[in-house]
Amino acid sequence: MNFDNKVVLVTGANRGIGKEIVSALLTRNVKKIYATSRDIANLPDFADTRISALQLDITDPQQIVEAAKSASDIDILINNAGIAAFASLLDSPLNVLEQDMNTNYFGTLNMIREFTPLLEGKESSAIVNMVTIGAFVNFPMIGGYCASKSALFSLSQGIRIELAPKNISVHTVNPGPIDTDMAKEFDMEKTSPELAAENTLLGLEAGEADIFPDQTGKGMFDLWSNNYRDLEKAVYDMHHG
Ligand SMILES: NC(=O)c1ccc[n+]([C@@H]2O[C@H](COP(=O)([O-])OP(=O)(O)OC[C@H]3O[C@@H](n4cnc5c(N)ncnc54)[C@H](OP(=O)(O)O)[C@@H]3O)[C@@H](O)[C@H]2O)c1
Repeated sequence: MNFDNKVVLVTGANRGIGKEIVSALLTRNVKKIYATSRDIANLPDFADTRISALQLDITDPQQIVEAAKSASDIDILINNAGIAAFASLLDSPLNVLEQDMNTNYFGTLNMIREFTPLLEGKESSAIVNMVTIGAFVNFPMIGGYCASKSALFSLSQGIRIELAPKNISVHTVNPGPIDTDMAKEFDMEKTSPELAAENTLLGLEAGEADIFPDQTGKGMFDLWSNNYRDLEKAVYDMHHG
């Protein structure tokens, strides 16, 4: 993937990894970035005329339709927005688990359904979905989140196959723990969002379909690749001490 002269839309661009993806994109020769946020008042001042701020809650179908009208010139869609409930699959209220699914899976799916027609017919275009290493193994303290991201990984595989003849490439990004608000409850070594964002763009530039932007996540993926039960065993040990 080449970012030269491309128009990129990033969801959840106001903080965390999304904000750093926008900053990393600004070091490339992109034409325009739609920096989207549920509340544009929360967007940082990126101090660059290539930024176009757009209000977008990915769980609101009407806002998605409006955003697609405003950003009809996009080449690259980066679905970064997400939430994580720290809750057990067994005894947390069902609506808490549903919220993860509604944002991470259905919200992202609705974005893809609305924006894909705009990506068709471009010389090269791409959809990038921010997943997690938790799509490969379920961490019980964020069980519903991991399930929603497994669904997102599966969705990404499906549309990758479906969209290949249309020249739209589909990528997943699968971080381990990254030092953002989302991971503040995790008492473990975390990678900076700046490095995760830069490695994400380097992975995209290298044409990688599935990107592992930090060492911890990559190490977990290597365990999974060797034998998926090895990673499950590691999480068992982590969970039960
Ligand atoms: N941090 C990690 O360890 C980690 C690891 C693996 C994957 N990820 C993934 O990386 C992505 C970014 O997470 P982060 O770590 O940067 O977390 P974060 O700091 O909590 O940021 C989450 C971003 O998503 C936005 N968002 C949430 N719900 C939204 C909605 N309905 N519509 C639009 N935007 C919404 C938030 O906006 P508001 O400010 O309005 O809430 C915020 O901008 C997520 O998809 C997450 O699952 C994170």
